[in-house]
Amino acid sequence: MDELFDQLLTGPLSRLEPFEQQIFTLRLTQHMPDIERPLRQLYGQREDFDTWLTHFLNIAADAYAVRPVELRLHDLKRITEPDWFQQSTMMGYVCYSDRFAGSLKGVAAKIDYLKELGITYLHLMPLLKPRPGANDGGYAVMDYRAVRHDLGTMTDLSNLAAQLRAEDISLCIDLVCNHTAKEHAWAQKAMAGDKTYQNYYLMFPDRTLPDQYENTVREVFPEFKSGSFTYYEAIDKWVWTTFNEFQWDLNYANPAVFGEILATMLFLANQGVEVLRLDAVAFMWKRLGTDCENQPEAHAILQAFRALSRIAAPGLLLKAEAIVPPPQLVPYLGLGEATNKECEVAYHNVFMVMLWSSLAERRVALMTHALQQMPAIPSRTSWLTYVRCHDDIGWAVTEEDAAAVGLNGYLHRTFLSDFYNGRFPNSFARGATFQFNPKTNDRRISGSCASLAGLEAALEAGDYAALDLAVRRILLIHSMILTFGGIPLLYMGDEIGMLNDVSYLDDPDLAQDSRWLHRPWMDWDLAQKRDDWLGVNGRIFQNLKKLIQARKQTAALHAEAGAYPVWSYNEAVFGLLRESPRGRLLILGNFSEHAQTIPAYRLQELRFDGRLIDHITGKSVDGWHDVQLEPYGSIWLQAV
Ligand code: GLC
Repeated sequence: MDELFDQLLTGPLSRLEPFEQQIFTLRLTQHMPDIERPLRQLYGQREDFDTWLTHFLNIAADAYAVRPVELRLHDLKRITEPDWFQQSTMMGYVCYSDRFAGSLKGVAAKIDYLKELGITYLHLMPLLKPRPGANDGGYAVMDYRAVRHDLGTMTDLSNLAAQLRAEDISLCIDLVCNHTAKEHAWAQKAMAGDKTYQNYYLMFPDRTLPDQYENTVREVFPEFKSGSFTYYEAIDKWVWTTFNEFQWDLNYANPAVFGEILATMLFLANQGVEVLRLDAVAFMWKRLGTDCENQPEAHAILQAFRALSRIAAPGLLLKAEAIVPPPQLVPYLGLGEATNKECEVAYHNVFMVMLWSSLAERRVALMTHALQQMPAIPSRTSWLTYVRCHDDIGWAVTEEDAAAVGLNGYLHRTFLSDFYNGRFPNSFARGATFQFNPKTNDRRISGSCASLAGLEAALEAGDYAALDLAVRRILLIHSMILTFGGIPLLYMGDEIGMLNDVSYLDDPDLAQDSRWLHRPWMDWDLAQKRDDWLGVNGRIFQNLKKLIQARKQTAALHAEAGAYPVWSYNEAVFGLLRESPRGRLLILGNFSEHAQTIPAYRLQELRFDGRLIDHITGKSVDGWHDVQLEPYGSIWLQAV
């Protein structure tokens, strides 16, 4: 260790003041066990392990040495308030810079709009330089150190980060760490025959191994291409391409790849990015005979990234994008030895799926049961809760969970697809199928929140009663994500009820991908109407704003408070208990278009009796009597 410190002090850290050097060595000593443990799991068998370890530490030291002063100070702020992202004041917004505001500079000009909504976290969709032409919505990156030129420059990005920081808004961007575009310099060199770079990817001389892998690997985009490998004549090799042909999976068994991505990560952190959304992390490690998702090594990679980033940029948060079934999801927040030592935040895709499932069914049994099965998350982590994002909705319902509430998993998933693509009779939803897989009959769903919740159909029919119900559905599911625990994310346009947008069909690069149905251009004319409480859009906006304010004022919604789904004794009403020393809350949400009642004895059993307050309205509620919920109504109760 001493030798290592000497090398770092005379090397990358030599330009720093002694005090700054000491901070680094202190952090290194503190985090060393968490750095070594996962790295040994990944590369411990190699004779050159120590050389690689030193290499990674040098990358961290290099990044620390050039970390701008204001970001070092910001790190301090985060370290002194480590639960900053768990507090109920947190509120996220997700958008494409171009579709929201033209460019990065345009986004800066819209900060007031974000503040009006109470936003404290902004996720800008992929903005690093993508390959030309079709690029999977920016998830095929050819240069991690350049910004997509029509959006601006790297300087614009760091300026924007600083402007947001000044307004207490944390910037999140994507780091596509599972794959690069085939136009990335590494892939180009690999394509030119360079063995070093061929080893950055997973390449096979013939179909022997690909065939074996394909026996157990699922197809993610079956409509885009069949199988997970692509043949390239120029190199006479099969390359692992989980998603599209132009996205080449990186080979993390090669420590050089780990080092490259680590350096990229810290480079972006040094631009002022506070949260990195790590894309498709479930796929980062492959193992023959498995589905090649959620492998223990994928977790080790994330743990090592985190531990190393703690010494260089400790304010940075890592966010896992792992859209996987319930049992596989929680480990991304760290379990066992890695508790609080993997990603700080992860998307709660199961909760999102369950919200839509409950709306379609008007019953909450599956949601209650499935969420009850999920273990608690570590105390210093947080979910990201959301109703819609830029991706499709895949029906993450396990056979076991479905069976436990008397459903058949396969039939229920089919029902949900049919309900949301409009095939089911009397469905209120307008959506489209994404990636029909004829082998499994699996269909995922595209569509905007408002269209899936019934607004489009109601507007078309000019049916005011249906319109009212659609608005109520939108507010209900947002009320749920605001209270479940974690950072709630508003997806651009949902705050004003934007509908499906079919214009993508005119663009040949986008037309094949129905996810563009719910990636609209921000309708600023519609947003102008946001103060009009009588109009649909204003009603959605103002009520959401009210809910967001209510959340901010309810400290007991802090993410560290346990979230326990409870049976409400009413099959249409979801009950959620939030418990922590900050207080006890009972959240109730009615998933049907009929008024519902929760009997007083149920409230008493849950120890909610006497005088209660509903944090949404601020009004007191008599806990000795039955509680009435309006159609799609919700209530956030706390004993006073
Ligand atoms: C993630 C993204 C999705 C993309 C995929 C491949 O799941 O959210 O949009 O297609 O990764 O990069």
